[in-house]
Amino acid sequence: MDDTPKPNPPTVSFTAMADGTREDYELLDRLEEEFAAGTADRVLAHLRELSGSLAGYQVDRLEHSLQTATRAWRDDADEEMVVAALLHDIDDLLAPHSHGELAALLLRPFVTERTHWIVRHHGLFQYYYYGHHVGGDRNARDRFRDHPWYQDAVDFCHRWDQCAFDPDYDSLPLEFFEPMVRRVFARKPFGLVGRGGFMITAPGRLDRPTDST
Ligand SMILES: [Fe+2]
Ligand SMILES: [Fe+2]
Repeated sequence: MDDTPKPNPPTVSFTAMADGTREDYELLDRLEEEFAAGTADRVLAHLRELSGSLAGYQVDRLEHSLQTATRAWRDDADEEMVVAALLHDIDDLLAPHSHGELAALLLRPFVTERTHWIVRHHGLFQYYYYGHHVGGDRNARDRFRDHPWYQDAVDFCHRWDQCAFDPDYDSLPLEFFEPMVRRVFARKPFGLVGRGGFMITAPGRLDRPTDST
């Protein structure tokens, strides 16, 4: 066993960001780029954690995700939409009441405005299928009836999401989708600046393609 002490990893000189130097921030940029390159791995690892959850349904969250993505793929959806279908419920464990918004934020730097919008609002469009059974308004999605991507969100839910709870469906395995996830997360992020890559644009402002078709 090699007992040679490992050199300490390089660190910045500052304890407050205001005191940082150009060299400090160049170092952080390099390290952050390395870290960001592992995003797809971390996303896939988190997706695997959905296995075994989703009490009451006949499939777990991972199977639901795979089934949604498989249905999208078999429907000839474009690659980023297949990945969106795979990841649309990935934040269910951390944000069960706002999972669509969180998943949309995860995807936002890498996908078109249209795909982001559909993922963000899919929960409301899913409500159409059960809202009336729980004392709600199943037509709550109608507030977006004039939106250009209203029908796309209707189709996402009707064709891929609401029907993806079938234990007998022949879903493709996660390994099939992994290269797609890696390609989408390897895209140059849209509209990001700064440490941690905050969004420079206001929500709703289009600084990236609206459609990948
Ligand atoms: Fe969902
Ligand atoms: Fe779903």
